[in-house]
Amino acid sequence: MSDTLIPRPRESSPGDGPGLALTARTRVHAGAEAAGVLAWLRREVGSAIGLPLERGGESDAQIRLSVDPGAGLSPEGYRLVVDSEGASVIGHDAAGVFYGAQTLRQLLPADVYRGAPPVGAEWVLPAVSITDTPRFRWRGAMLDIARHFQPKREILRFVDLMAMHKLNVLHLHLSDDQGWRVQIRRYPKLTEEGSWRTESQVGAVRPPVFDGRPHGGYLAQDDVREIVAHAAERHVRVVPEIDVPGHSRAAIHAYPELGEAGRVPVGTQWGIFEEVLAVTDGVLDFYRNVIDELLELFPSPFFHIGGDECPKAQWKDSPSAQQRIREEGLADEHELQSWFIRRLDQHLASRGRRMVGWDEILEGWLWAGQDGPRAPEGEREGLSAGAAVMSWRGEEGGVAAARAGHDVVMAPTETSYLDYRQSESEDEPVKVGTLLRVEDVYLSEPVPEGLSPQEAEHVLGAQVNVWTEHIDTPRRLDYMVFPRLSAFAEKVWSAGARDYAEFEPRLRAHLLRLDAAGVEYRPLEGPRPWQTRPGVIGRD
Ligand code: ACM
Repeated sequence: MSDTLIPRPRESSPGDGPGLALTARTRVHAGAEAAGVLAWLRREVGSAIGLPLERGGESDAQIRLSVDPGAGLSPEGYRLVVDSEGASVIGHDAAGVFYGAQTLRQLLPADVYRGAPPVGAEWVLPAVSITDTPRFRWRGAMLDIARHFQPKREILRFVDLMAMHKLNVLHLHLSDDQGWRVQIRRYPKLTEEGSWRTESQVGAVRPPVFDGRPHGGYLAQDDVREIVAHAAERHVRVVPEIDVPGHSRAAIHAYPELGEAGRVPVGTQWGIFEEVLAVTDGVLDFYRNVIDELLELFPSPFFHIGGDECPKAQWKDSPSAQQRIREEGLADEHELQSWFIRRLDQHLASRGRRMVGWDEILEGWLWAGQDGPRAPEGEREGLSAGAAVMSWRGEEGGVAAARAGHDVVMAPTETSYLDYRQSESEDEPVKVGTLLRVEDVYLSEPVPEGLSPQEAEHVLGAQVNVWTEHIDTPRRLDYMVFPRLSAFAEKVWSAGARDYAEFEPRLRAHLLRLDAAGVEYRPLEGPRPWQTRPGVIGRD
């Protein structure tokens, strides 16, 4: 199985001999720093293969896990050696041991991804020597649980599938026009009133058609704690996003004083809405309080404040927005957005955290970007040094941010939006966006061309974004995410050239693992009949 690993390890060579047969007598051992990985291995792999994997001593265990920062490995890197005597995983750190254990699992037959073994299964690890380390630090996936809520159990499963692919950042999009999805103790109406809508637009056709039934759901704070702990055990960091100052209708519905024009319904259509937050002290205090509660739940160094797609029409007509522009000496509403974002950036920095936002956070005075020229550089305060930019409208935002010395995460629509169409076939369900086949995900390069090596150091990595306007069930989520996520995982983990002809046979072998894990991926040949959605029209 060592020639079908995904993501492909950096170095791998077959060993001599028959490998290691796992039996009821197989013992496992871990040093103190690898104890968490051992617990995971015994629980998940042990129950999959139906063997007790009992603990043994350092000298008599066949599977040995340890951390050794002096072993010449890089962060998150590991060395895995299997021969007929045993299997040893040495990680640079606990994350490295975990990835080594994930590779060890992949070396077994695909049935190891089931919850229990098939009749008569035999488990033999092939003799192999692997040294591996990731290309990027940020190997992420964003899950939009605002448009269509995904319940806790699906998020936990999504984390497991990310970990299987050695991905390490789950970005949860927790608020949008169509729903507020996390309990905030101080502001209970956010979920009491903002977590559901009366109906949903179906497809993207104009004029819109609706399904005529309510949609909703939210994560209680204990659900969040559970997700964060589950993810941490699997070396996945959870980055929360509260999207401001646009995409805020659900919050404005719950607390109309947050907006510019009174109470509005929670959004039932997809798209961009005129209703945005007011830029008052009260609104800033509200969001500082929301952020503070969420910082208690999410230990991630990063907090995502959204910042995308904020129409300026309401601020043009708003006395309080215009007063703020005058008082702060701002040029226009674009600079007002920068001012608002900068306040939250300062707040997060004061709490020892780093703001991350969509590339619009550079606009206003920060970047003469897609909305035209702004105040010359140096005339106004920039974002704090730790602020990071998520480049989604192509690569320009990422390039500008990296040149300005900010860290960036690359997620341009054309290579990273997993809600986009997987083929041009009429059978493809709810076709939106541009064509993004599995090979397009695989072959695209995360680091933009033209960055100097020093600027390229600011590229923390890349992520895929799973927007869920048209993904209304976990089954549809599987269809849109897999196997494109598998291709993405190799792109951000593995170094070296990528050749789709070399990848595809490995991917076909990997699909058997996804089958065993119960993932309803899109077959490479196209959707199964029940994966089509005749009559639900997307958009070109
Ligand atoms: C986005 O896709 N609006 C970040």
